[in-house]
Amino acid sequence: MTTTDPETQVGQELLRFPPDFVWGAATAAFQIEGATGIDGRGPSIWDTFAATPGKVLGGDTGEPACDHYHRYAADVGLMADLGLGAYRFSLAWPRIQPTGAGRVEPRGLAFYDRLVDELLEYGIQPVATLYHWDLPQALEDHGGWRNRDTAYRFAEYAALTHAHLADRVQLWTTLNEPWCSAFLGYGNGVHAPGVVDPRAALEAAHHLMLGHGLALRAMRSSAPADHRFSIVLNFCSTWADRDDEAHRVAVRKVDGLQNRLFLDPLGGRGYPADVVEDTAWLGDWQRVVRDGDPEVIASPIDWMGVNYYSPTRIAPAPADHVTEGPFAGLRGVTVLPPRGELTGFGWEVDARAFTELLERLGRDVAVPLVITENGSAFPDVLRDGEVVDADRTRYLIDHLRAVHTAIARGVDVRGYFAWSLLDNFEWAAGYSQRFGIVHVDFGTQVRTVKHSGHTLGRVISRNGVPA
Ligand code: NOJ
Repeated sequence: MTTTDPETQVGQELLRFPPDFVWGAATAAFQIEGATGIDGRGPSIWDTFAATPGKVLGGDTGEPACDHYHRYAADVGLMADLGLGAYRFSLAWPRIQPTGAGRVEPRGLAFYDRLVDELLEYGIQPVATLYHWDLPQALEDHGGWRNRDTAYRFAEYAALTHAHLADRVQLWTTLNEPWCSAFLGYGNGVHAPGVVDPRAALEAAHHLMLGHGLALRAMRSSAPADHRFSIVLNFCSTWADRDDEAHRVAVRKVDGLQNRLFLDPLGGRGYPADVVEDTAWLGDWQRVVRDGDPEVIASPIDWMGVNYYSPTRIAPAPADHVTEGPFAGLRGVTVLPPRGELTGFGWEVDARAFTELLERLGRDVAVPLVITENGSAFPDVLRDGEVVDADRTRYLIDHLRAVHTAIARGVDVRGYFAWSLLDNFEWAAGYSQRFGIVHVDFGTQVRTVKHSGHTLGRVISRNGVPA
């Protein structure tokens, strides 16, 4: 723990970012909007999951969250005060198509009209994510992402939503962190819909990627030339204690299941042969891959979103040892406990892994990168109208330096979005984990910019971070 606010050190040298670097903050619909039962919104898998006893800590639900549905204008005002140049938000599919197919709810689209218009009023660039985990429950009732049809429904929803906002939103993301949707949603079941079936996770991963490709093609076919499409992935930065053969094999397995499983098909290389082989004991999940799917998935993107939080420590295990936790389905690997400095959520803090990851992506990804999420949860204290979040502030500065280092080493990183603008519903952890650069009192809905938020504001105004 440190009490030093790096921003108070005056006269420091600045590490400057490229002149057109984009600075923003990110959120997701289910995590902040609240208002889950109004204006025709249909239920999502997260409404169902949160209503199931024992699934979300403290029985927390999507209500009231940050009541952003009603307070969006004031929240955009806050963004403007912080000097954000861009705002990454997600659109709730069940607001726009309450059953995930067919009928469109105009009141759902109207909310995003209001939000986007407000952002543009302040000169803040909207960055829209089409899917941040809130699948319409009606689609889950037919198998959700285990069902190939969901990919087609997603493309339909993406196309109509894109067409509606195309005159005002240029930057689009199809999916946020499909690894989480597949492996936490259908593999170990800690996220909605709570299915525990590692093979279903792999099948879901394919349908998510297919949905991404179909959506991309559908949007691109009618998009103005200045529209830029992407997918946002969460990468595993894997660290092992030794560099011997056994450790290298373990690292490669985890890298395969979380990183290459997505990077390779996006890059036109298909699913990695070693991952297919490693997961074959679960049954032939590749039977869901049909002729033509690889080409659809490899439809060109314009940029890639990178979400990074923490390194993961792993070690080799006996060949028949089934890996616990989110890598359920993988064998021969053990996930080790995090070490050293941890966030309030227990996640290891080490910005070097971030630079390493960016350098690797700089080599392996053909398009520019944008940091679409990075941040930390700590138990904040609001005292005399202030939140002095020294740990989060230091995390922010260290990770911005790590991005700067990667850029200095030649990686094409175009922007940074802090996770998150607001404290919010942290999925299975409910409201227990605060990631915001703005504190939210969930009882009164009062917002207070934390020291980390003011720090980001200063970084933005100087386009640089203290050296
Ligand atoms: C990534 C997810 O996209 C976001 O929804 C989540 O809150 C953060 N990680 C923190 O866990």
